[in-house]
Formats: sequence, C-alpha cells, structure tokens
Amino acid sequence: MNFTATTKKPNQTTCDALIIFLRQEETVPEEKIIDALCANQIKKMRESGDFSGEASKVRLLFGLENLPRMILVGLGKNADLTLEKLREACSITAQTLKTLPVTRVSIMMPKIPKASPDEVARAISESLILAAYEFPYYKTSKQNKPKFDDIELLVAAKDKRGADKGLTEGRMIANSVITARDLGNHPANVATPEHLAKHARAIGKQFPQIKVNILEKKDIEKEKMGGLLAVSQGSNEEPKFIILEYLPKKSLPTVVLVGKGLTFDSGGISIKPSDKMEEMKYDMSGGADVMAVIEAAAMLKLPVNLIGLIPASENLPSGAAIKPGDIVTTRSGKTVEIVNTDAEGRMILSDALDYAKKYEPDLVIDFATLTGAIVVALGDDIIGAFGNTDKHLTALKAAAKATGEKIWPMPLEKNYEIFIKSDFADLRNTGTMRYGDSIHAANFLRHFVDYPWMHLDIAGVAWATREKPYRPKGATGTSVRLVIEFLKRFRK
Ligand code: BES
Ligand code: MN
Ligand code: ZN
Repeated sequence: MNFTATTKKPNQTTCDALIIFLRQEETVPEEKIIDALCANQIKKMRESGDFSGEASKVRLLFGLENLPRMILVGLGKNADLTLEKLREACSITAQTLKTLPVTRVSIMMPKIPKASPDEVARAISESLILAAYEFPYYKTSKQNKPKFDDIELLVAAKDKRGADKGLTEGRMIANSVITARDLGNHPANVATPEHLAKHARAIGKQFPQIKVNILEKKDIEKEKMGGLLAVSQGSNEEPKFIILEYLPKKSLPTVVLVGKGLTFDSGGISIKPSDKMEEMKYDMSGGADVMAVIEAAAMLKLPVNLIGLIPASENLPSGAAIKPGDIVTTRSGKTVEIVNTDAEGRMILSDALDYAKKYEPDLVIDFATLTGAIVVALGDDIIGAFGNTDKHLTALKAAAKATGEKIWPMPLEKNYEIFIKSDFADLRNTGTMRYGDSIHAANFLRHFVDYPWMHLDIAGVAWATREKPYRPKGATGTSVRLVIEFLKRFRK
C-alpha cells in the first residue's frame, strides 16, 4: 500500500473514493464538502438519521458531481475519541473498501484530541495495512485481493511534514507486524526451526546493520543448552538458536529480546488433546515478534542496542523424546525435573534467558505463548505482563495506552516458589499446585534471570479465533507495536 500526504482540497482529488471521518457532534462538515450537492446530501443524511456519526458506522454516497464515491465513517462522540477509535474506524473503512472496485483512495485527515498530525497519520497507515491483511499463500484459487493500494491523505499545509513522517512510520511498523503474522500463520511443516533461521538470515541480508548468527545443534551442545536440547530431542527437526544483533552505538542502552520459537507444540509425551492442536503452530509467535521488532528497530533507527535471542524447536513425542520424570541440566547449571513435557516453553526460554546475561543488558523482555492459564485469566485481548522492574512496567503501560495493545500486571508471587521446588532436582517444570500456572511459569523463568526483566505471556493475544479491529483471524502479531513504542521511549 502506497501512502502520500498532500495539501490538495477534497474537490481537487481524482480518487475513486473519498473517505470522510465525522464525529457525532459534527453537524456541518465545514471544509469537508466537495460541492453543494455533497453538502446537501450529507445534511439530509444527518437529518434523516441515516448517518449519525456513531463510531465505526459507514455510509456510501454515490452520484456526486465531481467524485465517484464518498464514504462517510463515524468516529463517535468527541469526548470518547482516541487514536484507537480512529484505528477501529480505519479498520471498518478497509473492510468496506475491500468489497469495492476502488484503487485510489483519498482520506481527509481527521483531528483527534491530544494527538499530533504525526500520530494521526501513523494510526491511519498502520491500521489500514493491518486491517487489509490477508494470508493467501496456500489457496490455489484466485483470490480477490483488496485492490485499494494508493492512498492519499489530505492535510493542511502546516501538518504536511508530520503527516509524511507518520505515514511512513505507520507503514514500516505495520509491515513488521505482518512479518510476525505471516510466520505465525504458516503451517508447521513449512515454518520449522530452520525456516525461522532462514527468515533471520534474510533479515540480515536486507538490513546489513543487523548481524545474524545461527547456532546449530552442535553449537547448542557446546553451549550446554540442556533445556533446548531436551525439548527438541523427540523431533526430526534440529533445534536452532537464533541470534540477531542490532548495535548502532556503544553508548546506547542495551535491551535483549527473547522469543519462544516453538514451531509446533504437540505437548510431547504429555500429549495435548487433538481439539485445536492445529493452532499450536503459532507457538513460535514470541520468536516471530522478536524478529519483527528488530526489523522495525533498524528501519526506524531506534536509539537502543537491541539483541534478539530465539530458541527454536518442535515439541513432539517419539522414542527419543523426553519423558515425564526426566531430569536435565540447563545452560545455567540448574537442574530441572520435567514433570510435564508440555511445559516446554519455560525449558527452552531458560537457556535463552541465561545466554542473555553475557550482553550485560539494561533490560531483557521475553515474549512467549507460555501458558493456557493466561488465556483463562485475561482472555484473548490482554497480555499478561510480569517483571522485576516497576519502572519499566509503568513505561510499558504507557506504551500500551498509546498503541491499544493492552497489558495487565501479573505477580511474581514469592510464596508460590514452593510449588516449583522438585524432590529430585533444583526445579520442576510445572507447579505442584495446579492453579496459577502462569505465575509458576514466570517464577520458573525468574531463576535464570539476574537483570531487569519483563516477561510477556502472549498466549491469549497472539492468535485470534474471532475478528477483531485490524486483526483478522489467525496470527495477530500482537505485542510488536507495543514493544516498538516502548523502545522508542526507552530510558535506562
Ligand atoms: N504453548 C503452550 C501454551 C498455550 C496454550 C499457548 C494455549 C496458547 C494457547 C504451552 O507450551 C503449554 O502447553 N503449557 C501448558 C503448561 C502445563 C502443562 C503446565 C498449559 O498451559 O496447559
Ligand atoms: Mn506446551
Ligand atoms: Zn508451548
């Protein structure tokens, strides 16, 4: 999708459709009219109640003198109007445009309370691209792909520079979210650990400022990454440990991103029920998100040294697979009794979190589809955020407010430590108390951490079984926009 900002007036455009956002209170659309007929029509539609400006209500006007189509999109009440409301309205706009024979679209940039032209433009390009997203790779029949791809934002002269910047930034960020979505949607027979490694190498080619290093099985053995090796030993696919380094300047703060890259989670010997097991191809979403954020960091030139660590593996049952009761030694030297082979995420993350220490990081953030329990607790639209640093959690909350990707703080409850003590090893990989598994998992990870750290349990948000605004069904890439925003504002 191509975006430009222009100072043209609405009656100077030559588009196939002109989009006008209107709030509930806006009776006379002042500068937004293109001619007398248009003004008259809008007025009549408001009087008749055909268009109230209610949030995300859409009406199409046809047969205007100077314009093929005009699409009115409601923004709701001014008092409730936020960037997220605008993103939702753009999402509906994209759904409408998809069904029309429209290529060139002009949009009158709306004013959003407390938001700069830069932010408004960014929200528009970001949400239009994300809402139009499709995953067509495995359909052999010809798809009617959305045709609209040329978008012109009509702005006042004083807003032009900000709008240009916002449009570009929104496009870059949305495209990295799409990277993450695609990786999550590809089936596990394609998106193997090797495929993730290939993708990382491709990022390295595209962005020479990102250094990519893949540890192969023999290197992983040398590193004594016992958790990753144990989880992968039941599979024919070899594990990979993917390292991406974007290090623009020594004096900048260092942040390590760790992502769970479990390309298929059958549960292993503690096998999962078959219902919905096909969705477990998205168990590498954390790894995908890390690659997406690093890609965006290079494009946006974010002022941080950023390292991505992705332990990648399958979790399958076989004669070679780990068994309940097995004890393994992780890279840190700590031993773990594998009570349930389905609690594999924390095993592979333990080695990556330990590896992160060598960067002497100012902060480590891990992304993982770690527990079903977080979905029970917070549902499919809220990230569970654990951490040992209140300052960064507060900053993450602010980034969540700005991006609309919601987080909720979860406790690293010290009194629950007793539930992950093993009778035979240092730790067990599941809690002896069945409930509160998201907390047991986070407490488990804490044993491998000696730096400021946040753990994002994205099991609920990474996959959509229902349509959400600008998040179609399937892999969502949720947390990418959140963490990019967080890193943009990052202070040690
Ligand atoms: N990948 C799953 C967590 C998950 C569940 C992600 C549902 C997305 C949706 C993880 O590896 C897992 O299987 N966790 C177990 C842990 C249990 C055995 C202690 C779970 O949540 O059931
Ligand atoms: Mn599992
Ligand atoms: Zn898993």
